[in-house]
Amino acid sequence: MKLSKLFRWRKNQKPEEAPSPKAKAARPSKRPSPSAKPAQSAQTGGQKVDKPGAFNAKIGSADYRLEPFTEGGICVVMKGIPKTPGHPKLAIKLVREQWLNHAAVRRQFSNESQIVRELNHPHLPKYRARGLVDGKAYYAYEFIDGVPLINLSQDKTRFPPELVKDISRDIVGQLLLQLEHIHGGLKPVAHGDISSENILINNRQQIYLVDFGCAHFIKQAHKESYQWLAKPSFISPEQARGDAWDNRSDLYQVGILYYELLMNKRWNIGRSKRDKVLFAASNDRQNDDFLKNVVDLETSAIIAKLLDPSPRNRFQSATEALQALGMK
Ligand SMILES: Nc1ncnc2c1ncn2[C@@H]1O[C@H](COP(=O)(O)OP(=O)(O)O)[C@@H](O)[C@H]1O
Ligand SMILES: [Mg+2]
Repeated sequence: MKLSKLFRWRKNQKPEEAPSPKAKAARPSKRPSPSAKPAQSAQTGGQKVDKPGAFNAKIGSADYRLEPFTEGGICVVMKGIPKTPGHPKLAIKLVREQWLNHAAVRRQFSNESQIVRELNHPHLPKYRARGLVDGKAYYAYEFIDGVPLINLSQDKTRFPPELVKDISRDIVGQLLLQLEHIHGGLKPVAHGDISSENILINNRQQIYLVDFGCAHFIKQAHKESYQWLAKPSFISPEQARGDAWDNRSDLYQVGILYYELLMNKRWNIGRSKRDKVLFAASNDRQNDDFLKNVVDLETSAIIAKLLDPSPRNRFQSATEALQALGMK
């Protein structure tokens, strides 16, 4: 099954029911924060340009125009448009003003840029540079022209109903292949914050996992595992309990994503952050057939296994999950 069917289908919907992914991508999902503005100062060496909050700066060896793009919980992302041809568009990530005083956030941001530097996969954004703008640390990586999956899942006419199962499986398969890459190799990384906000889908139906803001090198001894940076709706039981977490926590989050794609509703039904953490920490094992009304029994059992509260009872690797899905 090709996701192109999804995009053809969405194109044929009435515009007010299904805004095109492109139109959504062009609109920042949140208003740019004021923290993006101070970077206009002369220290950047950049001059002010028309768009509010936009400025010029050298990123790596090339000149860029930086425009406020969007923001997450901790960071601001700016879009870097090259001023000379032959350079890629960039996403430039900076810590939001209000978090700059937190030593742990600054440490993790530096950790994040080191992790992104190590990524080398056709479907993970490539690292380009890091440095300072207006005295604030940034790192820059390839800009992905796409929309966060959450924009699709909040859409009433999200997926053509007859294709939901195929589309969900395809997205989960692509994600598992990316996880297989980051979990393996010489410097295995656990992502820790897989969610429908941190996965972008482009109009070639390719998904890209972004936001390594919660990630850590699995082999590195670390005192803090930064689970408090993970999205509460997607937090794994071990993250919720404050225990050590590894690649199997990512597989739990894949289970949540699979569930939410199929059901178009939230897995974690907690209302406040506290309730969400409690929900994640105390959930029982689902019966293998818990999704029997939606998918075949085999797929239901695979999702139950991804969502097993105990990491030991889950798939132990993305490869195992891909094999169970018949994708390897
Ligand atoms: N490389 C990228 N290309 C395009 N958009 C991106 C890229 N990286 C992040 N974004 C967008 O910016 C948002 C915020 O970035 P993110 O890394 O998730 O910040 P935070 O750590 O604060 O959550 C993401 O949800 C995504 O929509
Ligand atoms: Mg994020």
